[in-house]
Amino acid sequence: MTYSNEAIGKLVEPARLHRNIYTKEEIFELEMERIWGKAWIFIGHDSQIPNPGDYYTTNITHKIPVVMTRDRKGEVHVLHNRCAHKGAKLVDTSCGNARAFRCCYHGWTFSTDGSLLKIPNEKGYDNTGFDVKDPMNNMQKVAQFENYRGFVFATLDANAPDLKTWMGGALDVFDNLCDRAPEGEVEAAGGVLRYEHDCNWKLFLENLNDTMHPMVTHQSVVQAAEDYIATLPADAVSQRAEAEIIPPFGASFEEFENTGITGFKYGHHYDGGKSSIHSNYSVLPAYEDAMIAAYGEERTKEIFSFNTHNTLYYPSVTIKSAVQNIRVVRPVSVNKCIVETWSFRLKGAPEEILQRTLLYSRLINSSASMVGPDDLEGYMRIQDGLESTGSDWIEMARQFGSDKDEGDRIVGGGTSDLDMRTQYTAWRNYMTEAYGTEGEL
Ligand code: FES
Ligand SMILES: [Fe+2]
Repeated sequence: MTYSNEAIGKLVEPARLHRNIYTKEEIFELEMERIWGKAWIFIGHDSQIPNPGDYYTTNITHKIPVVMTRDRKGEVHVLHNRCAHKGAKLVDTSCGNARAFRCCYHGWTFSTDGSLLKIPNEKGYDNTGFDVKDPMNNMQKVAQFENYRGFVFATLDANAPDLKTWMGGALDVFDNLCDRAPEGEVEAAGGVLRYEHDCNWKLFLENLNDTMHPMVTHQSVVQAAEDYIATLPADAVSQRAEAEIIPPFGASFEEFENTGITGFKYGHHYDGGKSSIHSNYSVLPAYEDAMIAAYGEERTKEIFSFNTHNTLYYPSVTIKSAVQNIRVVRPVSVNKCIVETWSFRLKGAPEEILQRTLLYSRLINSSASMVGPDDLEGYMRIQDGLESTGSDWIEMARQFGSDKDEGDRIVGGGTSDLDMRTQYTAWRNYMTEAYGTEGEL
């Protein structure tokens, strides 16, 4: 079946969704072309490739491999990972350092900025009309790529708006993440956690600001953590600090309601702002001193008081600025995706802050964590349940009708489905190719 724009539009109603969105292969393939092929997709952080010749490979959609490189002059590029000769995937390791990229098949060799350096036995092309200098014989750059404070994004759409315009008001959270470093910069640290999820990629995103599930899904682990904390002697300071990461996941409906949710164009949103479930993590005195020395007291207070929980830059990356980690979703098929967690060091902050970030990732986001696998159980059950023909519809009606339009953003209560409605407004616009047209929302 092929879906017309009209048929796609009918899958998303203002407060409910059709189950085919999650289960149909054809819809998944269209999403890859029209959402993942048009939006800005997170590629990596430039601190992953600090030296000339460093590279990192990933996929921009489920099928399109790319490589992020740092050339000899120190410039960062995002290139299609494809040999210009007969198309072989050129770089087959996940990361490393190379003087040049030499194709394994016929040995065409490319510089780390993608330009063709050498063709073996080149004289066979003499008088054939083949032009070695034709830029088509280079590794091709993706249509656009940009580096925002070290975070490298790329899009396959030459007509996409620039990255800052696309991020809109949600950009504040990236700034807040970097501003939490006394030196104003972060760097990737501690490796990556990769975790395969047997579910559609959108279920992971919908969970980020779903504040109606934590007190149910995570109830048992929160209870266990609270029981454990009650057994700790007064001087067990570090064990207490570690265990106290868990109970906020059992926060009440009222607490979540008060954090609020803010949505933006292109499907981005965050919960929190003034407060979040991370608001009460203690600030190390040495860290606070370093921040005050760098920014002064007032600005430091302002940075710490902008407190979001999860921010989504639809569709590929979600960040937790207050705990300095990000999660990246890489779709594989209609019912499989990979979620990566990357942690960041705040440059100029004490080592303990990075250790807390890594601990948080292990406790909450890893495949062996106490919280993430609870969520995955929910996503997999939804994926299974949506195969049922009992009903075609999924609702997203909580607080529908009371979202407040504030110009560049929509705001609502923290337990609202505003985040889902924001995502599906974007989904429908991308999928029916409405962005960039006169009727754009
Ligand atoms: S396919 Fe790469 S050199 Fe031939
Ligand atoms: Fe959860």
